[in-house]
Amino acid sequence: MGEAGKTKFQSDLRRYLRETDEDRDLTRLICEIADASKYIINSIRTGDLGVAGTSNLYGEEQLALDVLSDRILRKRLLHSGVVANIVSEECNEIITVSADCEGKYSVAYDPLDGSSLVDVNLAVGTIVGIYKGCDVLLPGRNLVAAMYILYGPRTTLVLSTGKGVHEFAMNSLMEYDLQRENIQLAPVGNIYAPGGQRNKYTPGVEAFVRYLEEKGAKLRYSGGFVPDINQVLLKGKGIFLYPHLQDAPNGKLRLLYELNPMAFLIEQAGGAASTGRGRILDLLPRGIDDRAPVFIGCKDDVAKAEEFIARMG
Ligand code: AHG
Ligand code: MN
Ligand code: MN
Repeated sequence: MGEAGKTKFQSDLRRYLRETDEDRDLTRLICEIADASKYIINSIRTGDLGVAGTSNLYGEEQLALDVLSDRILRKRLLHSGVVANIVSEECNEIITVSADCEGKYSVAYDPLDGSSLVDVNLAVGTIVGIYKGCDVLLPGRNLVAAMYILYGPRTTLVLSTGKGVHEFAMNSLMEYDLQRENIQLAPVGNIYAPGGQRNKYTPGVEAFVRYLEEKGAKLRYSGGFVPDINQVLLKGKGIFLYPHLQDAPNGKLRLLYELNPMAFLIEQAGGAASTGRGRILDLLPRGIDDRAPVFIGCKDDVAKAEEFIARMG
């Protein structure tokens, strides 16, 4: 468990951002995204679980919920007055909101990650990365904020603006109250979330997973990136991996709106996020559809993964 205990005071998200002197426009943007989550929750709980009859940039069949969640979030961002450009998992190109992008923010988001899990009632989430200014094709180390909203038994919002990682929970008024401040990861973990097919692991990844099992780590994998990362973060001990595979050298997860925001959060919590051969946040995106392998969580576990991969591939 991280160092931070229960917080001393209940504070809603907007007030918390004000009290920590966050930039007013960034506060507005974060609160717009938080507000949008109320409508996404409603669409998850009552919406159509069918297909939208369209596919996204990756040729993946879009679910009605993917498209609806994207529309809900995009509308809020378009009308916020503080957004320059948008990248969404559900859109094939960068959306220019305002040509005058000085002083504004650019946003990369996955409106509903793990959407295919909704019909089996497993937890899903929204993932958001925020840059200052016009550009979204920047290394993740340029992010000024990252957040995710986890639609689970409770709805929680985990946020960092570069001053630590904090958890908020939605209350009965559908407002977010601060639950935990400055969440920290231990150096070594005791759970692991191994994505991808095991029989396609390379020798180095296979050896790393066997190392984790031999030290007694327990397998915890739901198939949802947001709940799987949230478990590592909130338990403060663990590693998530979706590695390079024999037939997929870049793994599966998308850099701009899945890996970079989570890497920002995990590093802010004292953890690490690596492709297995280098820092996720240092990757220069070539396009909005970049993917990368990922080992993310306790820093000593990530370093061990890099060791095995350097030695065995
Ligand atoms: P999305 O639903 O946005 O396409 O993302 C799903 C991702 C991520 O949530 C999860 O970690 C991964 O897919 C699971 O992939 P596998 O089903 O191959 O394990
Ligand atoms: Mn996703
Ligand atoms: Mn998605």
